[in-house]
Amino acid sequence: MTRKLFVTTALPYANAAFHIGHMMEYIQADTWVRLQRMLGHEVHFVCADDAHGAAIMIAAEKAGQTPQAFVAGIAAGRQQYLDGFHIAFDHWHSTDAPENHALAKSIYLALRQNGLIDVRMVEQFFDPQKGMFLPDRFIKGECPNCGAKDQYGDNCEVCGAVYAPTDLKNPVSALTGATPVLRSSEHFFFRLSDPRCVEFLENWTQDGRLQTEVANKVKEWFKRDRPAEEGGKAGLGDWDISRDAPYFGIEIPDAPGKYFYVWLDAPVGYLASLQAHLTKLGINFDAYMAQPDLEQVHFIGKDIVTFHTLFWPAMLKFSGRKVPDHIYVHGHLTVSGEKMSKSRGTGISPLRYLELGLNPEWLRYYIAAKLSARVEDLDFNPEDFVARVNSDLVGKTINIASRAAGFLSKRFGGKLSADLGVEGRVLLDGLRAHGEVVRTHLDERDFGKAMREVMLLADRVNEYVDQHKPWELAKKEGMDAALHDVCSVCIEAFRILIIYLKPVLPALAVQVENFLQVKPLMWADAQRALGHHTIGEYKHLMQRVDPTKLEALFEPPAAPVAPPPGGEALAEEIGITDFTKVDLRIAKIVNAEAVEGSTKLLRLTLDVGEGRHRNVFSGIAANYRPEELVGKLTVMVANLAPRKMKFGISEGMVLAASHADEKAHPGVFVLEPFPGAVPGLRVR
Ligand code: 2FM
Ligand code: ZN
Repeated sequence: MTRKLFVTTALPYANAAFHIGHMMEYIQADTWVRLQRMLGHEVHFVCADDAHGAAIMIAAEKAGQTPQAFVAGIAAGRQQYLDGFHIAFDHWHSTDAPENHALAKSIYLALRQNGLIDVRMVEQFFDPQKGMFLPDRFIKGECPNCGAKDQYGDNCEVCGAVYAPTDLKNPVSALTGATPVLRSSEHFFFRLSDPRCVEFLENWTQDGRLQTEVANKVKEWFKRDRPAEEGGKAGLGDWDISRDAPYFGIEIPDAPGKYFYVWLDAPVGYLASLQAHLTKLGINFDAYMAQPDLEQVHFIGKDIVTFHTLFWPAMLKFSGRKVPDHIYVHGHLTVSGEKMSKSRGTGISPLRYLELGLNPEWLRYYIAAKLSARVEDLDFNPEDFVARVNSDLVGKTINIASRAAGFLSKRFGGKLSADLGVEGRVLLDGLRAHGEVVRTHLDERDFGKAMREVMLLADRVNEYVDQHKPWELAKKEGMDAALHDVCSVCIEAFRILIIYLKPVLPALAVQVENFLQVKPLMWADAQRALGHHTIGEYKHLMQRVDPTKLEALFEPPAAPVAPPPGGEALAEEIGITDFTKVDLRIAKIVNAEAVEGSTKLLRLTLDVGEGRHRNVFSGIAANYRPEELVGKLTVMVANLAPRKMKFGISEGMVLAASHADEKAHPGVFVLEPFPGAVPGLRVR
């Protein structure tokens, strides 16, 4: 039976480039989607930028851009990461797109129609200087619990206490530094505490569609005590879904100046992206969603479970839409045991990984090898990475082909033998028989188990190679047929292993398809034999990891570029002839005096050994008193055309050093030659 799958990953905030944690989620989902496609299932796999919210609005303002231009800039940088790691979303959209505005409004109106929207007054901190209500993250103050300074409005990073921003001592606005004032305004609530919602969610979250550990966590939320201002009863609280202008978001129908809280329209973006994608394909979105056997699957991280297991399914259910079939939750990525920051990532940049020439499929394999179906954190450990990739992929897998391919093409014109010998057939039957186990592990997102299984199979093949030693057969008289069989078995075994690895290593699989001269490999192809088939020329398929390159990935990013010397970049390069055009001479300052009407200029009388004196105005009055200069030697540009200035004619220019930003780095320093120089000598 063909499955119909609508698959998403979480929509990343459009305020920063991807970090390695995003790539992990996308690799997980992409691998799963590729498996489904190899199985012949029909998948639409989409994502989008999560464009709205106060944080993005404020970031855009800081960047001097409209929020629209700001998120467009972020979106423009996405594709290089996706292509780079072979992540094949069918479509990438934005939650600010018209489809999402329309869908979010229609879902809201349906909830309202169903009596699930309430309006209540909410008292919140307001920045009087900025004229806006402050999100919790933009209020700072002292922790009410431990007194730590400079803590955010929602929790304390020192003692871990969770509180409301109004609990902070000495709160200030992180935007302006102003003291926020309490102000009330009308807010819209989604009545999650309504018995209809509670009943639906108690069932939806516990009917086996969620991972057990997730279902158990969610169960606690149904019993959780609610704050006194919500009536103090235990159970699900209502959800504040509105924010006041100014806000970058979707306007709430019939409520001027009110916008949907970003988390209301973010998951709606899943549908908006799908709709845009289907429209491109000429498929009717509503008809597609109405298919009874359609499965809706969301891959997400463990930090956003509440939104996806309570708010989102309830929004869909009570607006009369299809609810998600599965929410697949993964843990976070740590690097050498260190936790990652949500905004800054881990310090290993996916782009740097690619720029260093590290193979994206090494990362795909490593992540797959370490992923389970549980909500466990996954540690990226560099030594482990090198060991696994080099041993599993290159040592165990690629080597099978490289050991057999040469003999086949040199000795047998690339033709495979169809009589593989008893041991060969037993080996291949064994590999085929394990296909179902590998498939099940992959399908259940137990990628680590699947990879271990495939490597055990690769071990069997390598044992077979070691037993039959094709390199020895090749040297013996009359062993051609045996050599042909053994090498053909190797190639057939290699093909089967590559099929099992293809969801994880799609680019390698394409190279192998070219080498074997076969059509794109599907899962079922493992069960069929190649038979009398001619393969192509073997080209090296995968390098080993060079540990020094991996080290470079962990090097702290290059120090900020040193400011140019003297505050300005060097002038354009010149040749010596350009330089000799400037005639520099030693000059004696015969006289120096202030210029009436100018605070900057001194009038200098210079002797350049010409038998006459020159008059030169120099902008050094702030730095030198005239009497300090008289009698000193300096350097002047002697062939500068005389210039008429307000105070007289200037017949040259005295050389002096200064910083490009004279305000910040005051000082003008007149040049003086070493002792021995006399007026008229040329400086060269
Ligand atoms: O946590 C985040 O990064 C959110 N931008 C995820 C949104 S997922 C979906 F709801 F859009
Ligand atoms: Zn504290």
